[in-house]
Amino acid sequence: MTSIIGHTQLALVQGDITTQDVDAIVNAANSSLLGGGGVDGAIHRAGGPDILAECRQLRETSHTSGLPTGQAVITTGGRLPARHVIHTVGPVWLSGSRGEAELLAACYRNSLQLAMDRGLHTVAFPSISTGIYSYPVEQAARVALSTIMAFLKAQPDWFDEVRMVLYSRYDFEVYQAALAELQQSG
Ligand code: APR
Repeated sequence: MTSIIGHTQLALVQGDITTQDVDAIVNAANSSLLGGGGVDGAIHRAGGPDILAECRQLRETSHTSGLPTGQAVITTGGRLPARHVIHTVGPVWLSGSRGEAELLAACYRNSLQLAMDRGLHTVAFPSISTGIYSYPVEQAARVALSTIMAFLKAQPDWFDEVRMVLYSRYDFEVYQAALAELQQSG
C-alpha cells in the first residue's frame, strides 16, 4: 500500500528491514547503542561488526552517556544492502501519559531530518517501540504515519521513498488501516 505526498512515495511493506535496499534503514536501538534483541539484534547480525564499531566510536566521542530517547545518530550499513543505519531510541510504553507519543514522533522526525542532512533520499523504518518497549501498535502506527506525513508535507521534494517495514502481518494490517484513516481525514 502506498501514498504519494509531493514527490515522495510513502510505502507500507511486510518484510525484514535488514533486506531493504535503501539509502538508510532505521534501527530501534537502546540508549547504549551497543546492540540488543529484536530489530536491533537483527541489524547488527546482518550488518556485521562495522556497525557496532561505529556505534562504539559515537559512545567515545559525541554520545559518551548514550543516545537520549527520541534522538538519532547515523553509522555505516556495513554488510547490509542499505548504505547507512540511522539509530534512534524509542520510548518505553509506561502508561501513555508520560510523553510517549511526543518522544515516538521525535524518533521519526529526527531520523528523517538526519537523513536529509546527510543527503539521503530513501529511508526505511521499522515499527519503533512496538516490540520489547511495548508501545501499543495501533497507537504507534498513528503517531508514526502522521509524523512522517507532516514531515513530507513540509519537505515535499526531498525524499523519493519513505518505507514502513512491518515484520508481522498483523502489524502490516494495523498500519494499513491507520494510513487509510489518515488519508481520509486529509
Ligand atoms: N525487520 C523489521 N521489523 C522487525 C524485525 C526485522 N528484522 N525484527 C523485529 N522487528 C519488529 C518487531 O516485530 C516490532 O514490531 O520491530 C518492531 C520493534 O520491536 P523491537 O525490535 O523489540 O524494538 P523496540 O520495541 O523499539 O524495543 C527496543 O529492544 O532490541 C532491543 O536494543 C533494543 O533495547 C532496545 C529495545
